[in-house]
Amino acid sequence: MADDASDNNNKKPLRSAAWFGPHDKDGFLHRSWMRNQGLPDHVFDGRPVIGICQTFSELTPCNAHFRKLAEHVKRGVWEMGGFPLEFPVFSTGETNLRPTAMLYRNLAAMDVEEAIRANPIDGVVLLTGCDKTTPSLLMGAASCDIPAVVVSGGPMLNGRYQDQTIGSGTSVWQFDADVKAGVISLQQFMEAEAGQSRSAGHCMTMGTASTMNSMAEALGMSLTGCAAIPAVDARRYVIAHMTGRRIVEMVHEDLRISKILTRENFLNAIRVNGAIGGSTNAVIHLLAIAGRVGIQFELKDWDEFGRDVPTLVDLMPSGRFLMEDFYYAGGVPAVTRALGENGMLFKDAPTVTGKSMWENVKNTANWNPEVIRAWDNPLVKQGGITVLKGNLAPDGAVLKPSAATPELMQHRGRAVVFENIEHYKARVDDPDLDIDETCIMVLKNCGPKGYPGMAEVGNMALPQKVLKKGVRDMVRISDARMSGTAYGTVVLHTAPEAAAGGPLALVQDGDMIELDVANRRLHLEVSDEVLAERRKLWSPPEPTMKGGYQSLYVQHVMQADKGADLDFLVGSRGHAVPRDSH
Ligand code: FES
Ligand code: MG
Repeated sequence: MADDASDNNNKKPLRSAAWFGPHDKDGFLHRSWMRNQGLPDHVFDGRPVIGICQTFSELTPCNAHFRKLAEHVKRGVWEMGGFPLEFPVFSTGETNLRPTAMLYRNLAAMDVEEAIRANPIDGVVLLTGCDKTTPSLLMGAASCDIPAVVVSGGPMLNGRYQDQTIGSGTSVWQFDADVKAGVISLQQFMEAEAGQSRSAGHCMTMGTASTMNSMAEALGMSLTGCAAIPAVDARRYVIAHMTGRRIVEMVHEDLRISKILTRENFLNAIRVNGAIGGSTNAVIHLLAIAGRVGIQFELKDWDEFGRDVPTLVDLMPSGRFLMEDFYYAGGVPAVTRALGENGMLFKDAPTVTGKSMWENVKNTANWNPEVIRAWDNPLVKQGGITVLKGNLAPDGAVLKPSAATPELMQHRGRAVVFENIEHYKARVDDPDLDIDETCIMVLKNCGPKGYPGMAEVGNMALPQKVLKKGVRDMVRISDARMSGTAYGTVVLHTAPEAAAGGPLALVQDGDMIELDVANRRLHLEVSDEVLAERRKLWSPPEPTMKGGYQSLYVQHVMQADKGADLDFLVGSRGHAVPRDSH
């Protein structure tokens, strides 16, 4: 074990001392190969080894600038007497991964957990950006329980096309509907591509990436103000530098992730999510992260603690502005302060700064009440995420009121059923399909097991014949997720999912369904007897792939109301590794 050389600053030997400390054959092995990188003696003197968990990939465009981000983290680590070592993990890029990046969130989390635990790392900086990169890194780090801090790569600059400001994803859904309705040409649609994504960074709407990085900040896992700084703003690199400094101190303080991620921090995150008009994906990811730290945190907490939170932030997809505007207005700290001033913040929640959440935010300002609206003049009075229950969703389903049409939140309609995504695509624009805007579109077999990976197809496009009437929203119900950049009166995450035999599997064309958001109700007007008859004829869909990771995933994935983690990954397994490799 560690000898005197590892006792840096007379502190208790760190985890990395078990690798780099001993003056024997094993120590030789661990140090010698590392020295081929040009490392001098003194970096092995027992100082904190800081892993920089790198999600750079050219296939994850949102994180493609992360090598530069890591260099700035390293500056801070060196300055504080730490020893930074960057290592790659599976980078989950939202736009390219098929069948959906969500299928790989848990695989990436497994990679992160094992990479941290197996290596001589005392503290870790998590470089997060594109949607799933944030939860996967937090989940993995939580299961190891060493000091950890998030620094995100930041959002892209506001998109611009012709005379309009356009937002990641949100504009795609709008333009797509406009092309189908004949409002804009295909040529215009194609031209908007380059204008939407015109700088480094992740989606600059309040989509899942902006939401999850705001959640990391709300959980106390990043330095104050981190989430909203644009990727290309010099201050993004300053906060990376400061994060590098801070993680070294956190190692000396033994400020491990389990000391930060308390129930109060998660409840704060629920409220920040409501106030920013955040993505429904946050529901699943926070449940999964909480599962890793083993705290009590359930789907119903989202409704209970989030239902009276007003949406203050006027960002697309719920509102008008984008992340660049949000940063200039004051970002997450200004929103958190407003929650604190209105009795909706657990002020003592611990954070990576070593101070309480309230201490971090109490002196921040709101510079633009158009972007971050006043408490008594919100964008949506009851924002948050609504959790629905009923015979169609015994374990719950969710809806985002700020993205929905108020008139549709109380609606009874005839079901038009799509058995799976292929059935939907083949059928939705069939001129003979018996559908109008009063119907409820039901999509099955797109949940965790069914797709597999619970794809973002819940905001399925409306039939062309409905779009051509100028209609832009209908009630839609599925076991899928939707992109955080999407909008509509969309019931998502229905649990249990159809492929697991949930009642959603039994819905048929012509059934009547009632959505009653005020009363949190989702009801299928079919008797239990008829449903039992239909169940006798039901069999689960054939898996899309036999063997490999997909089989492991489908066998072990939990339902959406439990965070869709793999059952055997729940909990923390700590950071001890008693055996050496030779
Ligand atoms: Fe990467 Fe939206 S696609 S953040
Ligand atoms: Mg997304």
